Amino acid sequence: MILKLNHLQGKAAATTAPDVIETIYSLMEEGHIEKDQFARLQIELDWIQYKQNFREVVIATQGYNSQGHRAPMMDMHVDTRQVSPDCLRADLLRALAHAKPGPQPQDRLPLEDFQSMRSSIVWEFNKLYWNRLKDWETMSGRGYEQALPGGQSDGHQPQAIADSVGDFWTLLRDMESKNQLPQEVFLVEIGVGTGTRMGLWLDKFRQLDQQRDTKYYPKLKVLLGDYSLATLDMSRPAVRDHADLCSFLVLDAINPLKSLSFLRYKVMLVHSTNVYDNLPDEEVVRRDGRLYFVQVRAYLPVAEVARIASAFEIPGDRMRSQIDRLLEGHFEDFGSRERGVNFWQEIWKAVRLEERLVQLEDLPEFPFPEGLDAGKLEDMLQQAPADFRFHLSSGALESLVRTLPLLHPRGYLQVQDIFVTDINQYRLGFFGPGKLEGSLLNWVNGALLKEVAERAGYDVHFAPFHYRKGSRTSILYTTRRE
Ligand SMILES: C[S@@+](CC[C@H](N)C(=O)[O-])C[C@H]1O[C@@H](n2cnc3c(N)ncnc32)[C@H](O)[C@@H]1O
Repeated sequence: MILKLNHLQGKAAATTAPDVIETIYSLMEEGHIEKDQFARLQIELDWIQYKQNFREVVIATQGYNSQGHRAPMMDMHVDTRQVSPDCLRADLLRALAHAKPGPQPQDRLPLEDFQSMRSSIVWEFNKLYWNRLKDWETMSGRGYEQALPGGQSDGHQPQAIADSVGDFWTLLRDMESKNQLPQEVFLVEIGVGTGTRMGLWLDKFRQLDQQRDTKYYPKLKVLLGDYSLATLDMSRPAVRDHADLCSFLVLDAINPLKSLSFLRYKVMLVHSTNVYDNLPDEEVVRRDGRLYFVQVRAYLPVAEVARIASAFEIPGDRMRSQIDRLLEGHFEDFGSRERGVNFWQEIWKAVRLEERLVQLEDLPEFPFPEGLDAGKLEDMLQQAPADFRFHLSSGALESLVRTLPLLHPRGYLQVQDIFVTDINQYRLGFFGPGKLEGSLLNWVNGALLKEVAERAGYDVHFAPFHYRKGSRTSILYTTRRE
């Protein structure tokens, strides 16, 4: 058996590891774990920093080959933050029971079949949240920004905005001096939220432009994009003073080019804050030279189903269909809108993900997100650890490769988000998924994004976001290589 420590919380690791070892040995002595199984078992101690997440305290992840037959490989993950010594044995036994062949314990209500997390039902919950944000916020009594570290989006930090405005003004000045300044200067923000950033940015830019008497401000054409119409509406007041310059567009961040193809090679600045970490994602495990694709299945623990069904007077066997109604936004089905939102919050809190690992026999057969292929992944993995689990950041990757063609030859993409910039970091912490209010977040595999963008002819670098003490945000800059 291999015991892996995936975090830097020394105290928690030092107390949990001996308990786990002792319990595993006693389970083996009692016949709950076969010797053969023990020999191949890998136990991973994680530390899940998100109070709301998709994990039971212990999960067992069984390996399968590409034909769907069980492979002799199993991982167990223990969340050292949630674990308690009194429950460890029962938690391990419960997880093992789910990984055994044959009839499964009937303590889960599956919400879907096993599949890539990229297509899981959890993203429908995420979308519902952004579409019905006001309902959620009214019920919980706090705005989504309050749940962020620091209590506000790093996108709204005044000095960061002032620096971004200064850099942009300098670029326009340089282009003007070379007779390259276009008549119309296009700016796009994707995933605008409250619109606060764009409002502040435009205030600052207008001020600087007036101070320096450069007359760039009237040339600006600003597009605010989001997949939620409700969010776009909510963002309008923040840019009211700049209404003549601004247009609002429903677009999917996964494919900006689709809605903005008329701006190909024209956009001077594309900006996003805290959007890439909110796009569909999936994970891959590398073990003994092989790659395994992590498939997930969303479920509700049956005890939670019973509790919620009784509170909302829903027959247990109708729970699944009521969740579909919920995801279609029919809150009034539950008696009143408030009750519907309350039901939504209870369900979301209870949703968990179970996992299995499916071996990739042949890398080229993997359903890669656009922008990635077997060659690029193999190249990236040459420098990577032989045994680790990482995020593909499929949504972020697709967003990136379908945004780059929008950039003017002197234009740039600026993304503020939580990035894993060195692949080795994956062995030192937990990078999602976590729940943030009604949304989901995963750290973005910046190392992979960089590899892909550089191969497409762009320079990429990451700068730490030094505007808030303790911030984990980085700023990704991308420009076309000269
Ligand atoms: C965490 S909020 C960030 C909002 C804002 N940028 C900020 O920093 O406060 C994520 C935003 O991205 C939007 N969003 C999420 N997924 C999206 C997608 N696939 N396409 C377009 N917008 C998306 C949400 O509607 C929301 O406005």
